[in-house]
Amino acid sequence: MFRTHTCGELRINHINQEVTLAGWVQTIRKFGSITFVDLRDRYGITQLLFGEDLNTQLENNPLGREFVLQVKGIVAERSNKNKNIATGEIEINIQSFQILNKSAVPPFTIQDDTDGGDDLRMKYRFLDLRRNAVKKNLELRYAVNRSVRNYLHEKGFMDIETPFLIKSTPEGARDFVVPSRMNPGQFYALPQSPQTFKQLLMVSGYDRYFQIVKCFRDEDLRADRQPEFTQIDCEMCFVEQEDILQMFESMIKQVFKDVKNIDYTDSVERMTWQEAMWNFGNDKPDIRFGMKLTNLKFPAHTFPTKKDISSLIASDFAVFNDAETVVAIAVPGCSEYSRKQTNELVEWAKRPQIGMKGLAFIKCNTDGTYKSTIDKFFTEEQLKAIAQTCNAQTGDLIILVAGPEERTRKATSELRLEMGKRLGFRKDDEFKLLWVLDFPLFEYAEEDNRWVARHHPFTAPKPSDIDIMINNNPVIENPAEYLKHPYANIKANAYDMVLNGNEIGGGSIRIYQKELQQKMFAALGMDAEEQQHKFGFLLGAFEYGAPPHGGIAFGFDRLCSILGGSESIRDFIAFPKNNSGRDVMIDAPSEIDAKQFDELQIKLNLK
Ligand code: AMO
Repeated sequence: MFRTHTCGELRINHINQEVTLAGWVQTIRKFGSITFVDLRDRYGITQLLFGEDLNTQLENNPLGREFVLQVKGIVAERSNKNKNIATGEIEINIQSFQILNKSAVPPFTIQDDTDGGDDLRMKYRFLDLRRNAVKKNLELRYAVNRSVRNYLHEKGFMDIETPFLIKSTPEGARDFVVPSRMNPGQFYALPQSPQTFKQLLMVSGYDRYFQIVKCFRDEDLRADRQPEFTQIDCEMCFVEQEDILQMFESMIKQVFKDVKNIDYTDSVERMTWQEAMWNFGNDKPDIRFGMKLTNLKFPAHTFPTKKDISSLIASDFAVFNDAETVVAIAVPGCSEYSRKQTNELVEWAKRPQIGMKGLAFIKCNTDGTYKSTIDKFFTEEQLKAIAQTCNAQTGDLIILVAGPEERTRKATSELRLEMGKRLGFRKDDEFKLLWVLDFPLFEYAEEDNRWVARHHPFTAPKPSDIDIMINNNPVIENPAEYLKHPYANIKANAYDMVLNGNEIGGGSIRIYQKELQQKMFAALGMDAEEQQHKFGFLLGAFEYGAPPHGGIAFGFDRLCSILGGSESIRDFIAFPKNNSGRDVMIDAPSEIDAKQFDELQIKLNLK
């Protein structure tokens, strides 16, 4: 037998048993005439003791780090036990050993706190994957996968594979394209998601579909984005939004239970997109903490139902007077920030990623007085009134941000997250789910003066808004006043699931009638010919009894990274790409040879 046990298996009750183990050499420690070796495999580490009698053999066959070893020996109780590892009470008195393979000296140490930088570890990812920290992440990923599969199988969902070589119909991100040798001059695209296929499966009557599936998007990368990533993709027939929300919040709760042993018994909070933007400046708010925005001034058309309270900040202060938007947050317990600390925050806000010109502060002192960087323009009474409107307590530091609507809201949202992080309100082991609902159906694309689908073109409008869509012309006559166009107010029957400030999933109730789908495509600027060329197959399918349907897709990598307490999804992908979309281990993408170009009948014309 190659091995009788794994390196994580042996305990005190195995004492005196003869065992055979195989694994990798983690460390070698020589003490006089005896040698200790830690042998590692996927399951753990076992200490080996090579006695004096093996010295000659060891001298003839010296061991090195990461050598692959097979050993035979007797399990013995250790004199100094190691409580930190599962096998820490025993060691193996080696009788014989065989080096199965040697190893070059690894370019970094294979241990939890490795000395290897990111690039080096990516180049030698197969070694990085030996490290416990990375292995734990992949184990978590597999646990999430199992939990999701079990849940969906239990609920009658069927896993159906959909093709990877499909038609290019970019909308949103760019497509990755693949040339076809058999159809010269023609290209497949890799799917950005199986969206249209899962809808076709509904037309075919498959009722409850799921797939844990690779998706490909040629977009700019960030910590939570990869060019190829995995979705838990789901679709159901004969459902309303409420059915989907319940089905999938239960799924995520099951994952919490199975993977983290967390009983998430709270009901999942729900918030409209408008409320999310109003209170948090963000459509994926982190609701583990409060610190909500106070909207002291805002353009009326952005939040038509909200009351104008800008008289509160009426003064000679040009920065507020000239600003489209003034938003404040009350940061708890920071009224004693020094000038140096507030200056640092101003510098933080001035960075290009945030893009603000400055910040104003009101300190709500513990003695009940107010001190502000804008004292010159506001009386203490006014400061007090602002503080009360911001629900500030004594000891709080109110930060005021002023500027153009979109940028100011975004900056305040970032500031809130930053302060939340600095004050320890964003704990890795606390999880808070949220549904964001009622997104706008359309976004305005300034460069083309047209509408684009905020989610995707297959999302249905809220039933109450369908008439607005049908009865109005989508053309935007006056770009400056696009917000007054009836289409700007159409709400989508769409929902996003947010976990700790990250969008982990998104979906919608779909359009299933041909006419409405055509209207949608037309609203996005597609004439009948283009509609037929790109989506003829779907429009055609809708003629044959398409049932009402809806679905959702979760970002599997994102879900894993949040559950694992990491900001980067790369840590949870066995072979990820770097920030330039490269796999530095296999060195891809790479050039192809002339013969391949010939076969494809393609000539390069690099600019
Ligand atoms: P959407 O585009 O919102 O919806 O994607 C669903 C979820 O996938 C994750 N995600 C990503 N993860 C890593 N890297 C990326 N580049 C990336 N892009 C998206 C996010 C996101 O919430 N077909 C629709 C779903 C539907 O309507 O059913 C879709 O793809 O967590």
